[in-house]
Amino acid sequence: MREFIGESLIDGVLTVTLQRADKKNAITQSMYSALAAATERARLDDAVRVVLFRGEGDSFSAGNDIADFIAIGQSGGGQVTDAPVFRFLKGLADLDKPVVAAVRGRAVGIGLTLLLHCDLVVVAEDALLSAPFVNLALAPEAASSILLPMTMGHQRAFEIFALGEPIDGRTALAWGLANRAVPAGEVEGVAAELAAKLAARAPNSLKKTKRLMRDAEALWAHMQREGQAFGSQLSSPEAMEAFMAFSQKRAPDFSKIG
Ligand code: COA
Repeated sequence: MREFIGESLIDGVLTVTLQRADKKNAITQSMYSALAAATERARLDDAVRVVLFRGEGDSFSAGNDIADFIAIGQSGGGQVTDAPVFRFLKGLADLDKPVVAAVRGRAVGIGLTLLLHCDLVVVAEDALLSAPFVNLALAPEAASSILLPMTMGHQRAFEIFALGEPIDGRTALAWGLANRAVPAGEVEGVAAELAAKLAARAPNSLKKTKRLMRDAEALWAHMQREGQAFGSQLSSPEAMEAFMAFSQKRAPDFSKIG
């Protein structure tokens, strides 16, 4: 058990729980460090057959903690690929065991882009998924700028990035982002059932199948390219305006940005 991240290993399923419900499971730097460690453990520990991501409370995750964005932005942004979030993203790219997600309520930013690295995604029909990177004057991360259009086509992915409006769970299913959309009360059960099925499958066959289906090195290379764009935006005046607007619970004003 690490700060705001719960871990339990039962019958081969490593359940990793975001436990910051009062902040809609927004993810801080220390939570990313714990997530990176959990992902690394999942890869190395033979007792782990499957990883299951879930969130406590009414939301999967509200994405990166905005106070952390402000702190990093004010310190100049810099080489973000050294940050804990990138250790987590590298861990996800390298993970060759199956990953399942149980998504209820909000899945924002990395709460959505994380799903692109999951193999089976169960969403609530009324879940709301969004990637408002442009609303925050940032850039896509987690290789989502290639994985999202690959999943649903350029126009749908562009709309999700550029307009930042949420899609519901039924739409996520129709657009290929989820395997199942079920009533919210059934999400955890269906995800646990799928994880248990995977945990009983031949582990090396599953690993080889997953490795053949995705190019971990190419994903990591793309994450690093995105990191350059993300890092330079993070300390930009337009991003500062967006973060301050969120903190002050007002709409951002980009009219004076050159
Ligand atoms: N970072 C830091 N705190 C966050 C957060 C985030 N990403 N998302 C939510 N919170 C906090 C809120 O500030 C609020 O804190 P408070 O109770 O101290 O005021 C608490 O979590 C509850 O959020 P609230 O906005 O009141 O809930 P809501 O149900 O009205 O809206 C969201 C939920 C997720 C739609 C909304 O909180 C939101 O848009 N969050 C920002 C999402 C985002 O842009 N993430 C970054 C993506 S890259």
